[in-house]
Formats: sequence, structure tokens, C-alpha cells
Amino acid sequence: MTTKKHIPKLNFSTDWSYAPAPEGTDHIQLNQSYDLFIGGKFVKPESGKYFPTLNPANGQKIADIAEGSSGDVDRAVKSARQAYEKYWKKMKPADRGKYIYRLARMIQERAREFAVIESLDGGKPIRESRDIDIPLVAAHFFYYAGWADKLEYAFPNRKPQSLGVAGQIIPWNFPLLMAAWKLAPALATGNTVVLKPAETTPLTALKLAELIQEADLPPGVVNIVTGAGETGAALVKHPDIDKIAFTGSTEVGKLIQTATAGSGKKVTLELGGKAANIIFEDATIDQAVEGIINGIYFNQGHVCCAGSRLFVQESVENLVIQKLKDRMETLIVGDPLDKNTDIGAINSAEQLAKIESYIELGKKEGAEFYQSNMPIPNGGGNWCRPTLFTKTAQSHQIVQEEIFGPVLAVQSFRTIDEVVEKANNTPYGLSAGVWTDKGSKIFHLTNRMRAGVIWANTYNKFDPTAPFGGYKESGFGREGGLHGLAPYLKF
Ligand code: NAI
Ligand code: MG
Repeated sequence: MTTKKHIPKLNFSTDWSYAPAPEGTDHIQLNQSYDLFIGGKFVKPESGKYFPTLNPANGQKIADIAEGSSGDVDRAVKSARQAYEKYWKKMKPADRGKYIYRLARMIQERAREFAVIESLDGGKPIRESRDIDIPLVAAHFFYYAGWADKLEYAFPNRKPQSLGVAGQIIPWNFPLLMAAWKLAPALATGNTVVLKPAETTPLTALKLAELIQEADLPPGVVNIVTGAGETGAALVKHPDIDKIAFTGSTEVGKLIQTATAGSGKKVTLELGGKAANIIFEDATIDQAVEGIINGIYFNQGHVCCAGSRLFVQESVENLVIQKLKDRMETLIVGDPLDKNTDIGAINSAEQLAKIESYIELGKKEGAEFYQSNMPIPNGGGNWCRPTLFTKTAQSHQIVQEEIFGPVLAVQSFRTIDEVVEKANNTPYGLSAGVWTDKGSKIFHLTNRMRAGVIWANTYNKFDPTAPFGGYKESGFGREGGLHGLAPYLKF
């Protein structure tokens, strides 16, 4: 028998393009509706209300999600308290570690399924959910599982003890990864949890609930209550919560700080950012341009540590801007499930409207506007082309405020003093990047930057061993690494 060779037909008459390379979806299993996960079981919300979660690439409903009320939050907190007293507090730390290792392995085994669901529900390119989000989720569970029985070594002579019940509220930009950042250290330190996923991206957390059942975690150790802001607020207010961990907007972070003041609850907040990415003339320019692109267009700019402000040394300004524009013209905006896609769908219609209003504002403020000419999908969904503003000023709102979309604002500088002053001049202080050939310059500059994480000659690199967190209005407390254990312990 001869095999027929398949030769794909290429159309050279138009611009170059890739054949579609969609990731399959037939291997994933999703229910039509999801209940709350309380006490190890899926239970109906007391109100009987459900809300839809949509696929932001086509606007279609994927599933109905239970809307948790304050009564449901109360049930979940009670179940977490019971599980804490009955099982988790009493369990040998090494055994707690085994459960967390088991979860880590199960996530690895089901990584492909999690990646596809993350991209379907949230709009991020499958390349990212497959290569970044889900592997990091497993890595966080593995890393913190290792600490479970070594807490005395992490904090010598300080007799670390668990707090009790942690309430955790997470955003939609890295849904399962943010769940992992919060669940893994809480469980390793012996706390039980009530987790509230974001209303636009609840599916991977609910799939994780299924794994938690399969892993045979004692019932109530992890509870998942879905819903929107009111559900989150009910969790924050609940009197039997010992600790609140939140990632999201600075606005809600401030509400949480007010609501918990004087309550004795421990709080950590990971809020917004407006990171400066700084290129010196001696940097490897091509590498830096690639890093800038990755820093702002990665995950549609839905990244709290996105490099949304670029500072270029004046002598290389024109060169860098030209290279940025050239590279932007090759970025593919499209189906999140396609492996060629660089920029997926904007997470929600509300977020797209916010980004578009900032783009209009930037034009009005007098900055020079540039958008790539690549096609964007038509026929539903929320899309935004990679956008660049040059000739911006410190006073522009597009330079001061978090846009949370694929929009980069560029300024030039001459000296280190000048760029440090400009880079630090925002209400935020989450992250920054510096690109230079000189190690001494890196140390000189980074010591003066008010940012929790600073990358040198790279950007947006994460590792479970590295602490992450902000200065100023970017929040307080650290997640990740040894530092990430302390917020879940008392001494
Ligand atoms: P958000 O802060 O409202 O949502 C984050 C989480 O908090 C969600 O789970 C939400 O249901 C919950 N929440 C909302 N109101 C709450 C309340 N009063 N008490 C307790 N929990 C509450 O963020 P949103 O509205 O989705 O996005 C708005 C802006 O926030 C974005 O444009 C972006 O600038 C910023 N943001 C920053 C994030 C980060 O990683 N730092 C993540 C998400 C948004
Ligand atoms: Mg969704």
C-alpha cells in the first residue's frame, strides 16, 4: 500500500500566514452547570441562582455557575473550621505534605485538560496556559508540599503554628495559578481554606475541586464558593475567618483593608501595577525588544506586573521604537486555542471597554498612537490589537494608571537619575525590568527602584521559590518562596 503524502496548499498571493493549529477540545469534560464545593461535595446555592461563564473568544456561554450568598459563605467557613479542628490541624505535617504532593501529580497528569479549559474560559493563548500557567501551578504545589514538614527549619526557634481558616479571593488573569499561589502555602502550613474564584473564570478552580475529591483530601479542607464581588465581600466580613489573601484591583484591595481593620484578621494584598521596563543604550537591543513585547503583550496585558511603561535611553529611542513596531506587525491576535496565537481574547466585554477608553484617552492626551495592522477575528469575541503610545509624558493618565491590556506607553531618558525618578513616580510599585550589558548598572539602578520584583535582561519569569509582592498601592505581603509561608503562620 502506498501512503499518499499530504502537501498543504499555500497561498502566496497574500501576506504570509500560518495554517490553523487548534488544540483539540474533545478530551475535556465540562458540566453544563456547577454547584458550590463545600465540605467535599458539590452543593446547590441556597438562593438557587446561577450565572453564566462565557468564552471571551466568541461570547458564548460555557456553563452556569452557582452564585454563592453570605449564607453559602457561612456554610463554607463552618465546614473549613470543622475540617481544621477535626483533621487538618491534628494531621502529621508529613501527611499533609503527601496530600499536596498528590494534588501536584494529579494536576501534572491532567495538565492538558486544565490548559484547554483555562484558555476557553479566560481567553489566554493556549501556548501560555500550556507552557506557563499549568506547569507553574504544579510547581507551586510540589514546592509547598516540600515545606509542610519542615516549617521549623523555615523559621528556626520560632514554633510556627497555623492560623485556622483562610479566605482567599482571586482574579481572572491567571485563574488556576492564583488559586495555586494561595492554596499551596495555606495547606502546607496547616490551614483550611474557602476560595472564591473570579466570576469570569471559575472553571479551572471547579475542575480542581474534582481533583481534590479524587485526591481524597479530608472534606472541608478546601471549599470553593463561586460568585462575584458580593460573595467576596461576604467572605471578607465573615467573623470566623483568620486570614484574607486577595489578588485583584487596588480599589477592592482598599475596601478589604477597610473591612478588616480592627478585626484581627491577617491580610495580604496583591494589587495593581504600572511597571517600568528600562532599556539602556548598551543593552542587546533585539533581546530587549523581545522582552518588552513579552512584558506587555503576554496574556493580553492582563498582568499585574506587565511592563506597561517603557523607558528607552534617548540614543537608541528611534531604533527601539522601529524594532518594536516591526515585531508588533508579526503578533497574531486570534483564537486562544490556536497554538500560533500570540494575543488571545480580552477577558470580558467590560475589560475591553476599559482598555478602549484608555486608548481614546491616550489619543486625547496628545500621545502618538500606533496599532499593528494584523487582522483580528470578526464574528464575536473581545479583541484588541497590540497598541503603542510614544511621545507620552509623566502627567498622562495612560502613563500613571493601570490599563490591564495590551497597551504600552513609551518615554525616553538620558541619565540614570532621571529614569529612576520617572520610574518610581507612580502610585504603584509591583515590578520593573532593566536591560543593560553592565552588571554594575543593574545593581546601581535596582537598589533605587521601589518595586517588589525587578527582572534584569529578562521579564515575566516566575518560580515558586521566588517571593512576589508590591510596594505602595501595589499591596503588601509576599507570596511565593519561604516568604510566602509566613502570612499563613503565627509565632
Ligand atoms: P476586582 O478587584 O473587582 O476582582 C478581583 C476579585 O475580587 C474577583 O474575584 C472579584 O469577584 C472579587 N471582588 C470584587 N469586589 C469585591 C469586594 N468588594 N470584596 C471582596 N472581593 C471582591 O477586579 P476587576 O473588576 O475584575 O478588574 C478591574 C481592574 O482591576 C482591572 O482592569 C485591573 O486593572 C485590575 N486587576 C488587577 C489584577 C491583578 O492581578 N493585580 C487582577 C484583576 C484585575
Ligand atoms: Mg469565562
